[in-house]
Amino acid sequence: MALKALMAVSGLILIGYLIAHMYGNLKVFAGQASFDEYAHHLREIGEPLLPHTGLLWIIRVVLLASVIVHMYAAIVLWRRANAARGGAKRYQSAKARRGVQRSYASFTLRWGGIIIILFVVYHLLHLTANVIAHGGATASPYERVVNGFQIWWVVLAYTIAMIAVGLHLRHGTWSALTTLGANTSPAARRRINVLAYALTAVVTIGFLLPPFAILMGLVK
Ligand code: HEM
Repeated sequence: MALKALMAVSGLILIGYLIAHMYGNLKVFAGQASFDEYAHHLREIGEPLLPHTGLLWIIRVVLLASVIVHMYAAIVLWRRANAARGGAKRYQSAKARRGVQRSYASFTLRWGGIIIILFVVYHLLHLTANVIAHGGATASPYERVVNGFQIWWVVLAYTIAMIAVGLHLRHGTWSALTTLGANTSPAARRRINVLAYALTAVVTIGFLLPPFAILMGLVK
């Protein structure tokens, strides 16, 4: 139970980051000066109390800790479930020996999670470190974004990742709220379902707006 709670709480922290990040990205529509000023400002928040990039590093540490806790809990819970089945395949019973071996939710969470972690590594090398510089390396975060998303397969790669994020969020939000005790009645169940879908739609569409607007030449 403690592991499920850790899974839920670390997941909710990551959801909070996703909402803030998606919202921040929409600044590309305000133009290069606004976007670069925003990226710069993120590094100055809290000064002089905190050193330069101080808050950013606090956020990075919290995010990394959340990702580690989330993956650790996932792996331990998965192993425990496998052991509890005593080697039998999932949902295997005397009645349905070859029943559904894999549910939609567990499939998207497990494989989706792996896709997302691979995406994050690629994404950091691309837009944070600029080691992978699609369309040309530059010191301007705005130019990094606009250069990259003029290339159709970069947009396609991000789109696949955002679909994985969306599916993960849909089931993860539902699961986290259930773990934390919000799923108490049919009405509450409906409410958390609506919340999970609404959140997923806002985050997924919000993330995809800048890449598609850039690909279609609406942002230059
Ligand atoms: C189309 C979708 C996305 C776009 C356009 C985008 C854009 C960016 C940009 C421009 C940066 C660099 C900001 C800077 O250096 O000032 C960044 C950093 C980052 N992004 Fe994204 N992002 C997207 C989706 C995501 C998703 C889905 C995740 C997580 C699953 C994510 C996680 C991160 C992280 C962890 C950083 C590093 C923050 C830091 O420590 O500096 N991004 N993103």
